[in-house]
Amino acid sequence: MDIVPLDFAAEPGRLAEYHTLMADVFAPGPRMPAPLFRLVAERGWRATPAETWLAVDDGRVIGGVTLHLPDDANAHVALVRFLSVDAAYRRRGVGSALLAHATGRARSEGRVMILIEIAEGGPGAAFARAKGMREVASQARRVLDLAAFAAPEREVPGYRLEFLRGRSPEALTGDMITLMEVMNDAPLDDLAINDESWTPASVRQMEEAWDLACQDVFTVVARAGDGSPAAFTRLFAGLGEAGGWARQTDTAVLRAHRGRGLGRWVKEANTAWLKRTRPDLTRVITWNAVSNRHMIAINEALGYRLLDVWHVWELRV
Ligand SMILES: CC(C)(COP(=O)(O)OP(=O)(O)OC[C@H]1O[C@@H](n2cnc3c(N)ncnc32)[C@H](O)[C@@H]1OP(=O)(O)O)[C@@H](O)C(=O)NCCC(=O)NCCS
Repeated sequence: MDIVPLDFAAEPGRLAEYHTLMADVFAPGPRMPAPLFRLVAERGWRATPAETWLAVDDGRVIGGVTLHLPDDANAHVALVRFLSVDAAYRRRGVGSALLAHATGRARSEGRVMILIEIAEGGPGAAFARAKGMREVASQARRVLDLAAFAAPEREVPGYRLEFLRGRSPEALTGDMITLMEVMNDAPLDDLAINDESWTPASVRQMEEAWDLACQDVFTVVARAGDGSPAAFTRLFAGLGEAGGWARQTDTAVLRAHRGRGLGRWVKEANTAWLKRTRPDLTRVITWNAVSNRHMIAINEALGYRLLDVWHVWELRV
């Protein structure tokens, strides 16, 4: 067996084999469609330096690992995005070899730790424990059945909603930066990572990536009476993706505007908009820190139900 780098542009066949290998990792949640998988593996939403290494045996891809090596506020970390071994080749040391390779790469890039998300209770968790990793954060996935969802009539006095599909107009970039940086307030548990900041260039880069990953993106912004941004939320839906899944990602309310029902209002309004606009969709999946009780209370009120729990594991390198 060899461990070799994946050249995304020149090796579409190997990329497809790697994607197939990852098919079950997110079950019972949605499988990542090919364009989204490629985007995440090759560079992520923020064009993060990234590399993928494949375990190849007799010309076949039998395992793989992707590393993101941020060059910004989190240059001390290597993020393992995917690590998987073909079920027919497990318990033969392939996972160990891939992890050792990733650890070596992280170390030579000056990283002090690897972080990796793993489903609770599966082989990944046993593997992480065997490798001396430490659980540093817990996240739950919840699913909303869109057929059962109906948004109640709601207004929050003093605020209005703005609906944006796809990339935001350039005039709104400053507002988007203000809103997205509020995501730094989400609980981190024991995760030793730093706040993310945004610039007009990184916002543009991220929004361009939506097209690369064939994502139809729905954003709702709440504005205060003076026009300033107060809250936002975002839903992603693949174009041509099987399974009827959408993904709920960021939701944030600026500190000065919390406690007035804005978080729930923007989410309900966006979900209702998505349901009207994309009748092909049947369900929405979301991730939250288990400790994020306010966000989870809103999600439960909307009708989201628990699917499973994942932990972030840290390995000092
Ligand atoms: C986790 C995974 C990558 C491990 O790959 P692997 O090639 O089977 O791992 P290794 O053979 O190198 O296992 C190393 C050690 O981890 C532990 N381990 C691995 N799988 C285990 C399992 N299913 N049950 C208990 N212990 C396990 C054992 O201690 C094992 O050593 P041993 O076989 O000598 O007892 C593989 O099971 C997989 O692809 N799972 C699905 C994807 C996933 O969960 N990825 C998360 C990343 S960790």
